Amino acid sequence: MTTITDILQTMDYGPAPEDSAIVRDWLKRHEAGFGHFIDGGFTAAGETFEVTNPASGEVIARVSQGSDADVDAAVKAARAAQPGWAGLSGHDRARHLYALARHIQQHARFLAVLETLDNGKPIRESRDIDVPLVVRHFYHHAGWAEIMADEFPGAAAHGVCGQVIPWNFPLLMLAWKIAPALAAGNTVVLKPAEYTPLTALALAEIAREAGLPKGVLNIVTGDGATGAAITGHPGVNKVAFTGSTEVGRLIRRQIAGSGKALTLELGGKSPFIVFADADLDAAVEGVVDSIWFNQGQVCCAGSRILVAEAVAPRFTELLKRRMATLITGNPLEKSTDIGAIVHPVQLERITALVEQGRAEGSEIHQGTAPAGCFYPATLVTGVEPASILSTEEIFGPVVTLTPFRTPEDAVALANNSRYGLAASVWSENVNLALDVAAKVKAGVVWINAANLFDAGAAFGGTRESGFGREGARAGMAAYLTHPTPRAKRPEAIPAALDATPVQGLPATAVDRTAKLYIGGKQARPDSGYSYAVAGPQGSVGLAPLGNRKDIRNAVEAAHAAKGWGAQTGHNRAQVLYYLAENLSARASEFEERLRSFGQSDSVARAEVETSIRRIFWYAAQSDKFDGAVQSTKSAHVTLAMNEPLGVMGILCPSAQPLLGFVSLVLPAIAMGNRVVAVPSQGHPLAATDLYQVLETSDLPGGVVNIVTGERDVLAKTLAEHDDVDALWYFGTAAGGQAVEAASAGNLKQTWTEDGAARDWTGPEGQGRLFLTRATQVKTIWVPYGE
Ligand code: NAI
Repeated sequence: MTTITDILQTMDYGPAPEDSAIVRDWLKRHEAGFGHFIDGGFTAAGETFEVTNPASGEVIARVSQGSDADVDAAVKAARAAQPGWAGLSGHDRARHLYALARHIQQHARFLAVLETLDNGKPIRESRDIDVPLVVRHFYHHAGWAEIMADEFPGAAAHGVCGQVIPWNFPLLMLAWKIAPALAAGNTVVLKPAEYTPLTALALAEIAREAGLPKGVLNIVTGDGATGAAITGHPGVNKVAFTGSTEVGRLIRRQIAGSGKALTLELGGKSPFIVFADADLDAAVEGVVDSIWFNQGQVCCAGSRILVAEAVAPRFTELLKRRMATLITGNPLEKSTDIGAIVHPVQLERITALVEQGRAEGSEIHQGTAPAGCFYPATLVTGVEPASILSTEEIFGPVVTLTPFRTPEDAVALANNSRYGLAASVWSENVNLALDVAAKVKAGVVWINAANLFDAGAAFGGTRESGFGREGARAGMAAYLTHPTPRAKRPEAIPAALDATPVQGLPATAVDRTAKLYIGGKQARPDSGYSYAVAGPQGSVGLAPLGNRKDIRNAVEAAHAAKGWGAQTGHNRAQVLYYLAENLSARASEFEERLRSFGQSDSVARAEVETSIRRIFWYAAQSDKFDGAVQSTKSAHVTLAMNEPLGVMGILCPSAQPLLGFVSLVLPAIAMGNRVVAVPSQGHPLAATDLYQVLETSDLPGGVVNIVTGERDVLAKTLAEHDDVDALWYFGTAAGGQAVEAASAGNLKQTWTEDGAARDWTGPEGQGRLFLTRATQVKTIWVPYGE
């Protein structure tokens, strides 16, 4: 018999597996195979595939492969239900979500066991982390439904949301997707991952039991083809995807030009930075929570440890010692730390990557794991920054360790990745920790913590980790839309204004020839070509015909001006006020320029006057578009910082050449972005006249760069450019589609709209919408209280 003394000596508690009988009964009842959940009921099982328990390899269910017809039926049901659902009061939708939260709570143990059987994650995690977070998500979003009308005035649901989720947190990702969608008044067609569809189907049963109206939530199971049928369905208005960067790119291209809203939560290779003054024991536990949580199958896992050289040997030693105590094995066992890898395909992938790393010369240190679909906790040292293990998302319990010398080195190493999802920073020095938090390229930063999640904190990435936020206000906003103005006539460049290339510069026209504006200097176009700008009485001047090389130079100049984003809002405001004053001083010249394009006196005067006021307005917003402190459940002050996107390409509409330019460029730079702007193709001279104003306004060179020329050609170059972080395109439908498709390369965020749709003179031309679009939330978790 084991005595207490034995236990204390060996710390071996003996087996204590979670009882799975109730779940197995449920699975037995569905032995014939699961159908889809469409319009409030389950369809009969169609063509099915096997679902296995990865820990044992046993087949536990058969699930239907969703066909195009199934997806179509689900979208139709969601469409039919949407007006009624959105038409309910926020309070009534909230009551449905509260009911759902309560029913999930009642089935918490069942869901945890089912999740563990299906996914292989330790029961301790599914029971104590996944399911409680799911419940919290529904309660939190019930609250948003309740107060939506007050908090988001004028906003409306997108309509039908098509949502595709991965297998690493099957039920939690479902909650992240459907709770805000339903709270906002959308209806949903969701596809769980093919490895892990069971908790989604169980939740569908729970939703029915909780009285969710039919058609509001539809679940279609299947593989990537089913996913593509959902995201590509013309009846879907918004697509939300979590999964691999590769599939994120496919979806971006698939729906380019469709008008569907899109958010993407993709892969990561997040740094875990340990400074010399960190509490090393706590940091070791941080690593456990970071990369050995959920078998390392976590998009925001801290998979790259960067540790100060001075403490690297000691930290490595502590880590190895802790690694040796981790128990890998039966996920239903309550003492298991690392469960099963979700599928043998993933196990093969992890194994192959680690072996490749070993062949490259990295040192591999491993714990133990039983035979089967398990992989031991793994620490990799002596790894080169260019090694496959340093760059590739492994999605397994494998972490690299690299020493660094200075905080600058740590930041450089941290940012040496195409991803930008999360970062964990360990230091007892608040100045250092917050300084590094500001400098790392990541959507989420944890200080002296790792992998904290809460419905009240925005989560999401930047760069190739995708765009959009889930959770908190920003997450809710992603499921809402403000009615986009509709064009009376679609954007077109009027024939009379069509640009014609003219080789060389006629000697007589030299004074009338504008140049490009790059890095604070006027520059001749690389092509050596200019084009005639037409007014009602013929040519009014020549504008340079910019090309790919000019765009490259402009992007480089914009990157060099990165200090602008680090300036205080107050400083930026001062520059913008000065800009407005300088434009004001030259108002009559600008009016004359606009008249030369055929505008009447009063229209020209109004456009200049509104432009000046608009600059003042964005100057005022520079230090007022505040972030927030988000209310999370743990003892943290969780900051939501409105950060600039970086380098933005802005393609201006044809009409209102001064006001259109100002309306788009000013919010971007007020928030700290640097801009490469392509002014109105037909009337670029109103923008090129701004050079002198910009030069005399203390605007640092490179913050605004102006390249004139063929808008759609330059737009494509900007969209393809990997060093451009975001693109606003106000032009034609075809141009917008090309921009969205080309943006898939580095997954830059895009805002495409018909250039003729907005009336720039009115309220549609100015507001917080532009500031929201020009920023992204960085969530920083800082210890607070307790
Ligand atoms: P995946 O991206 O292929 O699968 C995620 C979801 O997308 C699944 O539901 C799948 O059926 C669906 N899907 C696949 N192709 C689609 C398409 N063309 N259109 C619409 N939906 C589609 O991920 P996979 O293959 O399961 O895992 C491969 C690697 O991806 C992992 O090793 C990991 O590196 C990464 N990954 C990252 C995740 C994250 O949360 N960041 C989650 C899952 C995987």
